[in-house]
Amino acid sequence: MIVLGIETSCDETSAAVIQDRRVLSNIISSQLVHEHYGGVVPALASRAHLRMVRPVIDEALNTAGMSKKDIDTIAVTHGPGLVGALLVGLTFAKGMALALDIPYFGVNHMEGHIYGNLLSREQPAFPILFLIVSGGHTMLVLMRDHLDYTLLGTTRDDAVGEAFDKTAKVLGLGYPGGPVIDKKARSGDPDFIRFPQAFLKDAHYDFSYSGLKTSVLTYTEKHTTEHLERHMNDICASFQKAAIDVLITKSLRAAKAHQVKAIAFAGGVAANSYLRTHLTEKGRQAGFDVYQPELAYCTDNAAMIAYAGWHHLQRGERSPQNLNAVPSLPLGATAP
Ligand SMILES: Nc1ncnc2c1ncn2[C@@H]1O[C@H](COP(=O)(O)OP(=O)(O)OP(=O)(O)O)[C@@H](O)[C@H]1O
Ligand SMILES: [Mg+2]
Repeated sequence: MIVLGIETSCDETSAAVIQDRRVLSNIISSQLVHEHYGGVVPALASRAHLRMVRPVIDEALNTAGMSKKDIDTIAVTHGPGLVGALLVGLTFAKGMALALDIPYFGVNHMEGHIYGNLLSREQPAFPILFLIVSGGHTMLVLMRDHLDYTLLGTTRDDAVGEAFDKTAKVLGLGYPGGPVIDKKARSGDPDFIRFPQAFLKDAHYDFSYSGLKTSVLTYTEKHTTEHLERHMNDICASFQKAAIDVLITKSLRAAKAHQVKAIAFAGGVAANSYLRTHLTEKGRQAGFDVYQPELAYCTDNAAMIAYAGWHHLQRGERSPQNLNAVPSLPLGATAP
């Protein structure tokens, strides 16, 4: 089955062509316009998607060596995300499906992140404890089988990726904050400052990141510019350790409690080098398989959407032409 995937939920316009599990193309156009504002501006995102959606799809088809007629189905993100951004991809997908007389399926973006990880695995061993860490979400999900999700915990305020972005802004490091903090932290001392780790010892699986972000802000207010500049790498490393260690501790605890076979992680923050090294090492020490996502499938991309859609479409699931974009679509929800 050849699936065209389309992703426009936030600030990446992406299209991909997959043939079953094989990725034939995965084109991503990242919107640089938001850098100037230190965060995603919804109206600008929709406009950029409108401009880019057709050329990106054409490039995905060209790279795969295909024409529109070769496509069997379309998988498109319909939530969660920015409503105006989602509508661009969804409307385009519906129009294409209608014109080509082929089925399409509306995919949950977080399910897409999960399948971005599973793209590299022929036979995943269920149950899997999934840690999904991105710009808008921090979730622990128990996955007993394909497309079967139980939410164990989530953030009560900021997402972990959002904490990286906001902290980078406070430190004057630009947007997005994850990659730059990750890079600076590599040559910093993670034990230089002890930033707070919310809910670390609590039995539940929820997270909170607003306190950590505020704590970095308070630290910057209390120290001189010279001190901050001299210790920037140490501050980044200490922030990163506080943000990521709590994810690792809770993932291991949930994996043991639910006796899973594997721990997997996904989403933009899954590109973080500290998380990749330490969760993998500690998970394996505790006796679990650990599934790392390929870097190319961490931040938003349409290959992950196509592959999640492929699982639904294989089961004969189809979306109707009146499917709507749902900004806060929960994982595993049936489309309204
Ligand atoms: N190496 C890294 N370390 C930490 N965070 C990172 C790294 N690379 C990217 N990120 C973070 O990942 C986030 C982007 O991920 P992603 O594209 O999955 O988020 P999103 O699509 O905006 O949110 P969501 O998937 O929740 O809708 C940003 O917050 C960015 O700072
Ligand atoms: Mg995302």
